[in-house]
Amino acid sequence: MIPELLSLLCFRLCVGQGDLRRDESPPKPSLSAWPSSVAPARSNVTLRCSTPTKDVNFVLRKGGKVLELLQSPDSTEGQAEFHLTDLKSINAGEYTCEYYRKGHPHISSQPSDVLQLLVTGYFSKPSLQAHQRGVVTEGAEVTLQCQRPDTEIVAVMFALLKAGTPMPVQRRSPAGKETDFSLQNVSIGDTGNYSCVYYQTRAPFLASRPSDHLAIRVTGSPRTTASDYTTGNLIRLGLAAAALVIAGAFLLEACCSQESPRGVRSPEGRWVLEQARPAVS
Ligand SMILES: *[C@@H]1O[C@H](CO)[C@@H](O)[C@H](O)[C@H]1NC(C)=O
Ligand SMILES: *[C@@H]1O[C@H](CO)[C@@H](O)[C@H](O)[C@H]1NC(C)=O
Ligand SMILES: *[C@@H]1O[C@H](CO)[C@@H](O)[C@H](O)[C@H]1NC(C)=O
Repeated sequence: MIPELLSLLCFRLCVGQGDLRRDESPPKPSLSAWPSSVAPARSNVTLRCSTPTKDVNFVLRKGGKVLELLQSPDSTEGQAEFHLTDLKSINAGEYTCEYYRKGHPHISSQPSDVLQLLVTGYFSKPSLQAHQRGVVTEGAEVTLQCQRPDTEIVAVMFALLKAGTPMPVQRRSPAGKETDFSLQNVSIGDTGNYSCVYYQTRAPFLASRPSDHLAIRVTGSPRTTASDYTTGNLIRLGLAAAALVIAGAFLLEACCSQESPRGVRSPEGRWVLEQARPAVS
């Protein structure tokens, strides 16, 4: 009974690993913008492409076309920064990045998720209003209404921005000239200054000036005083998870080393396999 269960488990694990070997593209990197992906004209923005893999070269694309190639410095993790200075409308658009291992330019990773860079200041500002005023209690729902002035702009979306947050908090298509953003079950972390913009969903991706800031302050409800208890639980949970991962790594090693030598047919396959193996030796 037990051996049967074990071999079934082994089978499942090794089949899972087989899928990984067949997939030849290394996993996608992440692309982020600093200080924000919604930035005023003439400001500077840094796009950062990063992956846990070292010794890679990066490719930045805009609208699918290669824009720039960069090497990551040898000393650091796989990370590259693309500096866009003195932003203009032409910089707005949809960016992705990918990487390849140095010396293997024909094996590109999957592309990152699309990052939409919006350059603001091209249309007059919308107004942002909260249905609730002033201070909000934790757990409540807050509705923020963004309304654009009467302008003839086709294909617009609205984005809700929070000061200090590099990506829009929410995006919504409007009903007429306005849209309602809903923040549900708010927590202390939702405290901050919010604004909204409207923007074109197609090239040239121009965005309005941001609305005036609207301050939202979320206060705790009286019953949340259990932070020590939570920390203790998190530590226990972390230890349990670590033990599980180690046990799983040993099991995988035992199962899969019996089944086949690490026969690797292509350089692509070897690359993926090296990446996929757990860091336990
Ligand atoms: C943008 O970067 C350029 C060159 O690095 C610098 O001269 C300029 O002051 C920066 N502009 C802003 C608004 O920070
Ligand atoms: C609201 O958020 C808190 C903490 O994030 C969570 O424990 C709770 O279950 C949430 N409540 C609802 C109704 O989603
Ligand atoms: C919101 O903006 C005001 C004025 O700029 C500032 O004093 C305040 O600290 C900001 N609040 C938060 C939570 O960032």
